[in-house]
Amino acid sequence: MNTISRRQFVKGSSLLATALTLTACGGGAPAAEAPADDAAADASSYTLVNEGKLTCISNLYFPPFESMDEKTGEPVGFDIDMSKSLAEHLGLEINWLPSQAFDSLVPTIKAGGTADVAIAGMTITDARKAEVDMSDPYVDSNQSLVTKTGSEDTLETLNAAEKKIAVQAGTTGADWAAENLPEATIVPLDDIISAMNGVLTGSYDGLVTDLPVSAYQIKNSFTELQIIEEIPTGEQYGIAISKDNPGLTAAINEALAAMVDDGSMAQIQTTWFGSEL
Ligand code: ARG
Repeated sequence: MNTISRRQFVKGSSLLATALTLTACGGGAPAAEAPADDAAADASSYTLVNEGKLTCISNLYFPPFESMDEKTGEPVGFDIDMSKSLAEHLGLEINWLPSQAFDSLVPTIKAGGTADVAIAGMTITDARKAEVDMSDPYVDSNQSLVTKTGSEDTLETLNAAEKKIAVQAGTTGADWAAENLPEATIVPLDDIISAMNGVLTGSYDGLVTDLPVSAYQIKNSFTELQIIEEIPTGEQYGIAISKDNPGLTAAINEALAAMVDDGSMAQIQTTWFGSEL
């Protein structure tokens, strides 16, 4: 483990933010003094599993946030581009570990020693915040209920014991299904792509997953699936960080804010979603 001073970075980034504000205002009133670093940002240090690198874990079956490039096997997606920019803002290299089960990400971060962060389209929830720190939100999301094109099932008819609803284990979609389709047979799977294939082939009657993922997949590959309910859960994605590393959470929040200010977040959103989210 290495301890790196982040004081320089924090100071530098508030100066940069001030400069951007000035530019944006077209040189009107002088910018206010940069505020004193808050308590968290002033922690001035954080630890990293590997020196000079932000080591990341995810579940790489969640396009367009994260998936594996078919040819290279390398991770690709919104979260991957976002993490690259995040690492650049932190002055670090990025290091992605192999995909792992979604419900193992929070325990891995909590245990420490393997990865610094989990970046996985992960909704900020109270249950997760009890285990790990979650960064400030970087994407808004909702849930969706999906069936095969031509299916006449509705939210009501799917709520029956003979109906099988696929979900990704340990996700907020799984929680929503358990709560709102209490009569249905909920089938937790390792990944939502298997769920989509299973709905196509008739193994499952429907699935529940994050709306940006179902919408993207239906548009680009699973054209024989349809969204029958958009469910406004009002979720927000954040980055999971160990509670033992509050300086890293502070530095990541600074970097996320800088990415909004300097337009890199908007650019990455446009790349993957065609517009800012
Ligand atoms: N947003 C949902 C959750 O936090 C699903 C995330 C799934 N992410 C993934 N990389 N498979 O529970």
